[in-house]
Amino acid sequence: MSVKPWDGRFSEKTDRSVEAFTSSIDIDKRLYCYDIDGSVAHCKMLAKAAIISQEDALSLIQGLGKIKREIERGGFRFDDSLEDIHMHVEARLVQEVGRVAQKLHTARSRNDQVALDVRMYLRHETVALIKNLIQLRKVILGLARIHLDVVMPGYTHLQRAQPVLLSHHLMAYYEMFSRDADRFNDGLKRINVMPLGSAALAGTTYPIDRDYTAKLLNFPKVSANSIDSVSDRDFIIEFLSSASICMVHLSRMSEEFILWSSSEFGFIELPDAFATGSSIMPQKKNPDVSELVRGKTGRVFGDLMTLLTLMKALPLAYNRDMQEDKVSLFNTSDILKQCIDIYIKMLPNLNIRKDTMYAAASKGFLNATDMADYLTMKGIAFREAHSCVGKAVSYALRNNKELHELTLNELKSFSSLITEDIYDILTPQQMINRRKSFGGTATENVIAAVEAAEKQLDKETETFLSVKAALKNQVC
Ligand code: ARG
Repeated sequence: MSVKPWDGRFSEKTDRSVEAFTSSIDIDKRLYCYDIDGSVAHCKMLAKAAIISQEDALSLIQGLGKIKREIERGGFRFDDSLEDIHMHVEARLVQEVGRVAQKLHTARSRNDQVALDVRMYLRHETVALIKNLIQLRKVILGLARIHLDVVMPGYTHLQRAQPVLLSHHLMAYYEMFSRDADRFNDGLKRINVMPLGSAALAGTTYPIDRDYTAKLLNFPKVSANSIDSVSDRDFIIEFLSSASICMVHLSRMSEEFILWSSSEFGFIELPDAFATGSSIMPQKKNPDVSELVRGKTGRVFGDLMTLLTLMKALPLAYNRDMQEDKVSLFNTSDILKQCIDIYIKMLPNLNIRKDTMYAAASKGFLNATDMADYLTMKGIAFREAHSCVGKAVSYALRNNKELHELTLNELKSFSSLITEDIYDILTPQQMINRRKSFGGTATENVIAAVEAAEKQLDKETETFLSVKAALKNQVC
């Protein structure tokens, strides 16, 4: 059992069960490189402000570098009695450089230290996610580009509604993932604030230079209130909220792939490499990847709930409850990256069944609205046209025909305004290409949307590279 930093105040040793219960090392050890980089910057700042000597700072920094390499090599021993990553590094530093190690924690508390570590971790994760979302959208754009001639039924209430281009449907997901990337980008501003120097909660009596620490760690901003700095986990809640919304999008897409790959729809065939079989039914090919993305969405929502519940009644400032934040944060960040990654790989390999989609878009009176619009343009009120086409649909149903299969005479019996030109508006392709209103599914619109998105993504990639370069962020 190790000696605790608070040993002076206590007359009894910590019970082993308490050590095991309060320890977070299994979770927070993955913060080690941020913890060490933060400590190195802190040492440099202490030396610059003449709070410790240059020689002490040098030996601390060398020791910290050695510990980092040791953890990287897998040669570091973790132990419950040392609670968390901060205490592990400090205890090892004592072994490495001797008594001078005890100067590292001058003008600092684990409360501001952990806030710093998590912020450094999360800005790195956020940048990685933004990159993933750029790649995912590139893949979606690629699909939209090559399938511009694929017509499918668009749905409302999961009933066939009006024909659309598959590319238009895919571009709806492009829009969702663009908003996700935007949200992560925006959150980055609030993550990227440097809390170190707030100490336990009230600041410190030492003449520290927080701006210098921030500069060393590439933070554009220093937190303004020491109490808020150690109590704030809004940036985690925000991240989990953005992640939850992104998972909603991935889950809706998954649901569609699950439906579309069923025999009932038959719109797509999943690549063999991304499907699984059944241990009992030899004919089965299951959409497990999409099902698991849909399922993991629940875990991410759970993480958001965990953080909201964790924080809702905490008095200021730091409370140990907050240690529980990392389980949820790491879980969500890992899940989201995995889900996006698997779709980046899977999407280009989807087999699109163009004929089945087209057949589905050609049946079920998807042209009824167009016929009503046609009559309206010929001078009758839309409601009257609606009723007139309703009667035609009922007649066609009874005669087992589609609207465009009715003869001109049959059609005229519902309205004398109908002439031969009705047949120019009733096929799926005609219906699609007449929907030229901005944001509509006409082929020319969709091509323009794909081109605009390609340009936007190029721009975003440039911005992303500059954000990434500015962070110069170390990765654990
Ligand atoms: N392991 C703790 C956490 O993750 C670090 C801060 C502990 N501070 C304290 N005063 N016990 O929240």
